[in-house]
Amino acid sequence: MVKRMIDGKKSLFSGMQATGNLTLGNYLGALRNFVKLSDEYECFFCVVDEHSITVRQDPAELRKRARNLLTLYIAAGLDPKKNTIYYQSHVSAHAELAWILNCFTYMGELQRMTQFKDKSAKHADNINAGLFTYPVLMAADILLFQADVVPVGSDQMQHLELTRDIAGRFNSIYGDVFTIPEPYLGKAGARIMSLQDPSKKMSKSDENPNASIYLMDDKDTIMRKFKRAVTDSMAQVKYNDEQPGVKNLIDIYSVCSNKSVAEVEAEFDGKGYGEFKEAVGESVASILVPLQSEFNRLSSEKAFIDEIIKENAEKASYYANKTLRKVQKKIGYPERIR
Ligand code: TYM
Repeated sequence: MVKRMIDGKKSLFSGMQATGNLTLGNYLGALRNFVKLSDEYECFFCVVDEHSITVRQDPAELRKRARNLLTLYIAAGLDPKKNTIYYQSHVSAHAELAWILNCFTYMGELQRMTQFKDKSAKHADNINAGLFTYPVLMAADILLFQADVVPVGSDQMQHLELTRDIAGRFNSIYGDVFTIPEPYLGKAGARIMSLQDPSKKMSKSDENPNASIYLMDDKDTIMRKFKRAVTDSMAQVKYNDEQPGVKNLIDIYSVCSNKSVAEVEAEFDGKGYGEFKEAVGESVASILVPLQSEFNRLSSEKAFIDEIIKENAEKASYYANKTLRKVQKKIGYPERIR
């Protein structure tokens, strides 16, 4: 059994990219679960700015979005005194461990990653090595903090599986160095679909703005987008695969209103899609509008946020370096002379 890094409490790690406009999918699949689990675990919530540069970024824009995401973590209810909320680029151990783990990951494993295939199709003019080894950096993120649990949406499951494989491979050579992490998927909300094409995941890079609810959409926009959401001609609010649009809306409503699927079906039995969509919009707005006002309030607290950035980078570095030093010793790097 790997020794718990932080005595008493199990450890949780997760991260989000600061690129594009965050969507309701990011919130329901990830951020909401971060908040839910944050009392139970010793948590590390990272703004993964190093992952972001696998696609070309405007520097000023990346910096701004990274800060906004860090602020959003706190606005969503993560206490920055209890949880370690930080930028990946402020903790050099991420990149250092990623290099080591690159040497324990096979080309064939990375070639199978669907995200790599999708992103290289989308950015055919920039299929860089970082895009290819992206999942190794993600494995380093998780393993540095000996994470027991990693809350993610279902699109990240393949990366999680790879992380477990890399950790198991390393442990089988060097002993129990890494905790093997378990994914945490919410019961509903792990895969929120596009409002315009429910066979596709809701994605911040979707070209059609009506396909996604952005976390910063105002109430009118939210209501309008749900009103336009693609459904079907079956005229029944039932949860099944023949009605993917309705199914997605039920998922969203069920999570946002804390009702079971059966309760939602019963509530809208015999009612029309218009009424149903309005209720879905209201339930989403009732979460996003307060989130936005807290985000706006915190955004003006510059000194407070700066302090968190500084303190938490130090705290994250402390724990990350503990694991990194152990790994470096195991693989035979020369000892540091103090
Ligand atoms: P990213 O930034 O694309 O997404 C952040 C989180 O949001 C989830 N998500 C969704 N969940 C449900 N429905 C959707 N439509 C939807 N879209 C996105 C994602 O599954 C994710 O949990 N590689 C990761 C970031 C990362 C990471 C990590 C995550 C880097 N290192 C270590 C966990 C642990 C990514 O690009 O997520």
